[in-house]
Amino acid sequence: MSIEFADKIRRLPTYPTAGGYALGDEYAMLASNEAPYGPPSGVQEAVDRAMRNINRYPDPSNMRLRRALAARYDHDPGKIAIGSGSCDILLSAAEALLEPGAEIVYAWPSFSVYPHMAAATGARAIRVPLNAEHAHDLDAMLAEITVATRLVIVCNPNNPSSTALPLDEISAFVERVPRNVCVLIDEAYCEFSVLDDPDASLDLARRHSNVVLLRTFSKVYGLAGLRCGYALCGDERFRVAVEQVRQPFFCNALAQAAAEEALKHQDEITRRVEQTIAERIGLEEELRGMGLEVADAQANFLWHSLGSNGDVDATREREILDGLAERKVLIRAGGALGREGWARTTIGTPAENRRFLDALRELV
Ligand SMILES: Cc1ncc(COP(=O)(O)O)c(C=O)c1O
Repeated sequence: MSIEFADKIRRLPTYPTAGGYALGDEYAMLASNEAPYGPPSGVQEAVDRAMRNINRYPDPSNMRLRRALAARYDHDPGKIAIGSGSCDILLSAAEALLEPGAEIVYAWPSFSVYPHMAAATGARAIRVPLNAEHAHDLDAMLAEITVATRLVIVCNPNNPSSTALPLDEISAFVERVPRNVCVLIDEAYCEFSVLDDPDASLDLARRHSNVVLLRTFSKVYGLAGLRCGYALCGDERFRVAVEQVRQPFFCNALAQAAAEEALKHQDEITRRVEQTIAERIGLEEELRGMGLEVADAQANFLWHSLGSNGDVDATREREILDGLAERKVLIRAGGALGREGWARTTIGTPAENRRFLDALRELV
């Protein structure tokens, strides 16, 4: 006799986390789309200050951080939800919106947490393949919306393909989605896109009560280890619902303090974005120069083939990834993310990027 678990434990896929966390600093960690630099200035001191009161529970209303975000985005603080990472908001949104008989629509390949949302709730997942340009096919997604649809996710820029759609296309899509269906636009990487001003999509959340813009402090703000994400919602009821399904103290005190401080350093953030984009353009050119296919990148990572003409199978993919790891470079194999023979490589520091290119050149 063993413990009897809920049915969903058999359904839930294992999240394909990157390895390498126990390895030394000499590795170029290009597998998890993290920032290669530390937190913005002032964050260390803010965390030290918050530590002094760590015997207290964190503010369950996240009010200081919500007010800071409200000022930054000119958005009602009542319509801003906070999470222990934006993953926390995704999983809570699943719990709040989905159930057996309901449907969730998302593109594929896309972020590995989306399949969990259906599996955890018993809802039906409708995956719509990316188009030939590795981008969301919004017409095809629209065609999948039925009376059972509760949630549609558009990952913009998309993980793992790094492609983004212009705001006007997303805006036209939102216009056509029924008002009772939540449209969650996952903008974890929006700051790195050159297609539109990252603040421009706020207008969607102002005009449409069913829109939620999901963002994070894990990427451009370099705070992945602290876990803090946020949602700019079209309707306060989304925040209330995701708070209802969670434990009360879902965002720790250090994360709240760090995020609030990080928001004050927008100039530093802009400089980091510029550096990342400059590196991205250089890397794209180099990879194409090696004869590899590279999706049009708008995030802090690249989605690229590991050979030409689709000649890389699972074994060859593993050989290349292992060869890179021997050279102390970790990237993410495409097979685990939905496309064999491809890989997702995070933009690192200039030195890390050079090491990646030199190692890859020896292997492909
Ligand atoms: C598209 C996308 N959304 C959300 C997240 C979640 O990030 P976090 O939970 O660190 O905010 C990630 C992380 O990789 C991501 O790629």
